[in-house]
Amino acid sequence: MAVKKIAVIGAGLMGSGIAYVSAVAGFDVVINDIKEEFLNRGLDRIRSDILTGIDKKKITPKEAEEIFRRISTTVDIREAAKDADLVIEAVFENLEVKQDVFKKLDQYAPPHTILASNTSTLPIKDLAKVTNRPDKVLGMHFFSPVPAMNLIEIIVTDQTSEETLEIAKQVGKQLKKEIVICKDAPGFIVNRLLIPTLNEIIKLYESKLAPMEHLDKIFVTKGGMPMGPFSLADFVGLDVALHATNTLWKAFGDDYKPPQILQDMVNKGFKGTKSGKGFKDLPKEDFEPKKSDDYLVNRVLFLMINEAAKLLDEKIATIEDIDKAMRLGTNFPKGPFELADEIGLDKIVDFLNELSQELGDFYKPHPLLVEMKNNNKKFYS
Ligand SMILES: NC(=O)c1ccc[n+]([C@@H]2O[C@H](COP(=O)([O-])OP(=O)(O)OC[C@H]3O[C@@H](n4cnc5c(N)ncnc54)[C@H](O)[C@@H]3O)[C@@H](O)[C@H]2O)c1
Repeated sequence: MAVKKIAVIGAGLMGSGIAYVSAVAGFDVVINDIKEEFLNRGLDRIRSDILTGIDKKKITPKEAEEIFRRISTTVDIREAAKDADLVIEAVFENLEVKQDVFKKLDQYAPPHTILASNTSTLPIKDLAKVTNRPDKVLGMHFFSPVPAMNLIEIIVTDQTSEETLEIAKQVGKQLKKEIVICKDAPGFIVNRLLIPTLNEIIKLYESKLAPMEHLDKIFVTKGGMPMGPFSLADFVGLDVALHATNTLWKAFGDDYKPPQILQDMVNKGFKGTKSGKGFKDLPKEDFEPKKSDDYLVNRVLFLMINEAAKLLDEKIATIEDIDKAMRLGTNFPKGPFELADEIGLDKIVDFLNELSQELGDFYKPHPLLVEMKNNNKKFYS
């Protein structure tokens, strides 16, 4: 089946971005939201994306007109679903709301229609199970801002058919995005690795090992992060980061518990850039770091490599897709396995062993890393 028409449910930040890239790629697009004013706000975002596209000479004014003509809107979900080949749902991150949408989509969409969710954290199987077409349900997880971020995580459940996956891959290609495939597991790839990484940095700050400004600086200069981690957390939204952490905590236990300071800040309304208050607005501290930069950076990066080994061991995704997801989804210059090969497993395993003696079993090197170290193996030979 060739997809011609895409319905996007939810005209918020993500939905409008997904609608824009879909229309640019030549698909007919219908956007659905619960109120006209939300649809209009979404259309305003799309207009602004189009103007940026014209400014950057990516699209001509004539193409802009055609792009806009391909987009329609409706507050009636039945109308949106009735002739769509693919639906991409981007409503609030709430299971009940999404299940209600999926039930309606299943009822109103033709039998061939694929139903995809852009959820960041919810299990796809919990959406598939409220439909009579679990073989045609999968996750298509875009990254923000959608026009600029070049990645889609495609999430498959045990029931997603090969044909559904192939069609979703084809659409991703037409949208000019890179694709990674992962199993339906908490956090998928990027959030599963990025969230514990950010939380570990927050814990370094919380336990007063170094001032925030110092950590923000060294994770860019020595840790290879594209922006300071506290600026990144503020940008992502502290409530969003907390929500994702809670999902991992629920799934994997207390080692993934959100740092207390993150919970306190969200409770006090510090939700990052969008709320005007975040880490950057906390009082500045001035003291000498209690640990070396190498210790601080390695503790975080090696933990990320350890998490990536768990993902690989659980067969959530391939080595190549895990690396690609982290490069394109977070703008890290290298994926965790590329990094591990570069640093050397000897150093990583030894340091994690030391950390686990100081801080507990969570830091223990994963048996896969130990086995590879002992056999002198690399992830890429
Ligand atoms: N914001 C991000 O960076 C990001 C990144 C990746 C994935 N996501 C996921 O994308 C989804 C949307 O996030 P967002 O940031 O665009 O949220 P948002 O709040 O900007 O937009 C959600 C939109 O959904 C609409 N909506 C709510 N219930 C609806 C319903 N029953 N039918 C139709 N429309 C409905 C709302 O009116 C709103 O316009 C969430 O699942 C989120 O986890 C977000």
